[in-house]
Amino acid sequence: MIDLRSDTITRPSPDMLEAMMKAEVGDDVFGEDETVNAFQQKVAKMFGMEAGLYVPSGTMSNQLGVKVLTEPGDEILIDEKGHIFNYETGAASALSGVQVRTLPGKHGKLNTSLLDHTKRGHYDWEPRTRVICLENSTNKGGGVCYSKQELSEIKSFADEENLFVHLDGARIWNAITATDVEPGFFGEISDTISVCFSKGLGAPVGSMLLSSKEHITKARRYRKMWGGGMRQVGLLAAAADYALENNWDKLKDDHRRAKEVAKVIFDSKFLAVDMNSLQTNILLFDTVKEPAEKVIKKLKKKGIQMIPFGPQIIRATFHFQITDEDVEVVKQVLADIGE
Ligand SMILES: Cc1ncc(COP(=O)(O)O)c(C=O)c1O
Repeated sequence: MIDLRSDTITRPSPDMLEAMMKAEVGDDVFGEDETVNAFQQKVAKMFGMEAGLYVPSGTMSNQLGVKVLTEPGDEILIDEKGHIFNYETGAASALSGVQVRTLPGKHGKLNTSLLDHTKRGHYDWEPRTRVICLENSTNKGGGVCYSKQELSEIKSFADEENLFVHLDGARIWNAITATDVEPGFFGEISDTISVCFSKGLGAPVGSMLLSSKEHITKARRYRKMWGGGMRQVGLLAAAADYALENNWDKLKDDHRRAKEVAKVIFDSKFLAVDMNSLQTNILLFDTVKEPAEKVIKKLKKKGIQMIPFGPQIIRATFHFQITDEDVEVVKQVLADIGE
């Protein structure tokens, strides 16, 4: 099976497993796992942040970000396609008691004209708007990235309105690869950043919240409260570190492969794609004449897995365990799909 359902399905390579086996570990609840301590410092420094906290999932790091930046009753702003709003089981309301206000951005991205309309009057009876949540690259938005200019404008708006910025950087590695924006810039425009090692980088587990020492100290307590305190977690941090050092460079090939497949879709009479919005490893396309589910079934019969992302939208996500040979098969099958 050529599995394009997600970039989370990669398996650890023998080299990654070897790096895990060699890791020096300790009890991280006591703060004594030197592998995780060093890895947290390394990633925090990369993004120009004071501290990092390794956590089991991107959902947990996003939710810890929301938690440390808000009080119950606050409001957070997010694009209507945002992961925090759509795919985190309503956690922001349940765990932080915040109101999630969605905005109709483009390809999952917010902009200052949309944000301008959210301004409130600071009356007693209004929620206090507190955080702008960004996602880069966007998942449901089709892997689209913010430009430096767009982020600077949002940051200026946040400063003027006294709002925090949380950045869901589950695929920040793809965004950096596609846009060449240096990691430190994301630290400048964000108060909290969540990064994932278990998406395109290919680690089996793990994400990290990056922020000030003060916020991370607070997040550490909530991570424990939410059952995310882990013991000899250096084993997992070693896999994540291996992924960062060895697999980041492979993302550009995932982006190229996504484009190659998209070209075939673009030329098809039965499928459609917006080539301009294809920037990274996530390819969204339209099934035009047939329901997405029906096309998914046809593809599965030919040994290819993708997932529906709407009644007529399919998502194919590329990762380094998809080879050029796999891509040739996918292109051929898609070229013949309506025949
Ligand atoms: C943009 C984005 N944020 C957060 C997450 C959550 O990550 P996890 O599945 O590790 O909880 C995902 C997962 O796919 C994602 O795509």
